[in-house]
Amino acid sequence: MHPTGCPGGAFPPYGPGMNETAITVHQTARPHGFPTTEHFAFVESPLPVTPAGSALVENLYWSVDPYHRELMDDVRGGFALDAPLEGRAIGRVIASRTPRLAEGEIVFHRQGWRTHAAVTPEEVRQLPRFDGVPLTAYLSTLGGTGLTAYVALTRIARLHEGEDLFVSAAAGGVGTATGRFARLLGVGRLVGSAGSATKAAHLVRQVGYDAVFDYHDGPAADLLGHVAPGGIDVFVDNVGGEQLAAAVGALREFGRIVRVGTISQYNTPDAPLPRFNYAEIVEKSLRMEGFLVSNYRDLQEELYEFAVPHLQTGRLALDETVVDGFEGIVHAFLGMLRGENTGKTVVRDRTQTPSVD
Ligand SMILES: NC(=O)c1ccc[n+]([C@@H]2O[C@H](COP(=O)([O-])OP(=O)(O)OC[C@H]3O[C@@H](n4cnc5c(N)ncnc54)[C@H](OP(=O)(O)O)[C@@H]3O)[C@@H](O)[C@H]2O)c1
Repeated sequence: MHPTGCPGGAFPPYGPGMNETAITVHQTARPHGFPTTEHFAFVESPLPVTPAGSALVENLYWSVDPYHRELMDDVRGGFALDAPLEGRAIGRVIASRTPRLAEGEIVFHRQGWRTHAAVTPEEVRQLPRFDGVPLTAYLSTLGGTGLTAYVALTRIARLHEGEDLFVSAAAGGVGTATGRFARLLGVGRLVGSAGSATKAAHLVRQVGYDAVFDYHDGPAADLLGHVAPGGIDVFVDNVGGEQLAAAVGALREFGRIVRVGTISQYNTPDAPLPRFNYAEIVEKSLRMEGFLVSNYRDLQEELYEFAVPHLQTGRLALDETVVDGFEGIVHAFLGMLRGENTGKTVVRDRTQTPSVD
C-alpha cells in the first residue's frame, strides 16, 4: 500500500472498469478544531487479499457521520493515523471464497471509507430487500440514523401521543427521522432548531415540523420560547450547549431530555459547557438520559416493521443528501460537519447514480 500523494481534496484515477486497484482514505493528522482536507489522504493499493472463508466486496454506498469527527481526536478507540478509516458501507460481493456469501450479493458492513473490503460472513449483514425501498435507506432511515431516532423516541423518551417535542439539529439525519417518526407516533406540537432559515422552512413544509428556529438568530431560550410558548414535554438533543440549557428551562413537569449527541462541541472542545438551573431537574421531576445506538441493535427488525410499511405507502419519506462519487467522501464529511446537508449524508458510487434520460 502506498500513498498516492493525493491529500483528501485530490483523488487518484479510479472508476468503473479500473477496479484492479483499491483506494482507502486515511487520516494523516489530528485536527485542532475544524478538520480540513489536509487531515486526510486517498491511498492506492492492490485489491485486498481474500483468505479462504472471506469475500471481496466492492463498496457502492458509504455513510459519513459525526462520530467520525469524534474519532479523529486522540481519544480511546479513536482512529489510528495513516490507516484505513472505518465506517458503515454497503457493497456488492465481487469474488467469494465462502459458500455463505454469493457473488453479486449486496451486504452491509463497517469497512467504509474505501473502495473495496475483504469481509467474512460474520462481519456483514445481508440486507433484506423491500419493494420500492432504495439501498440508501439502509444507511439513513432504516440504518443507524433511523434506529437512533427510533430508540430516542420509543425507548428513552417513551413519547406518548399528544406530547410536545423539541428536536435540535432537526434538519440532519437523526433530526429529520426523529421528526417524521414522532409524527407517526402521534406527537403533539413538534418544534426544532436548524442552522438556516432555508432549512427551517423546509422542515415545516416538507418534514412535518410545526415551527423551527435558526439557532443563529439569538439566545436559544428566547427562540425556543417563541416556537414553544407553552413549553415542551420531550427534548431530543443532537447538539448540546446553549440549546440544552434552554430546553431544561422549557420542559414541563415529568419532561425528558434524550441526549443523542453533542455536535456543537466536536469542533470546539474549549467551548463553555452549558449552564442551567440544576434545581429545575428536581422541581420539575425531569429525566435526562443518553444512549448509544450500538446497544440497541436488537431493535433493527422492529424498526423495519415500524418504518417499511410507511415508506412503501409514501407516508414516510427519506431525507438524504446523496453525494456522487467516492472521490467526494472527504468533502461530504466536512460538508456535513458544516451543515451543508439536509437529512442523512450518503456517498454513492457513480455506478449507482440513476441515469437521467
Ligand atoms: N447516540 C448515538 O448512538 C448517535 C447515533 C447517531 C448520531 N448521533 C449524534 O446525533 C447527532 C446528529 O447526527 P447525524 O448523523 O444525524 O448528523 P447530521 O445531523 O445529519 O449532521 C450534522 C448536523 O449538525 C449541525 N451542526 C453542526 N455544527 C453545529 C453546531 N455548532 N450547533 C448546532 N448544530 C450544528 C449541522 O446542521 P445545521 O445546519 O442545523 O447546523 C449538520 O447538518 C450528532 O450529534 C451525532 O453525534 C448519536
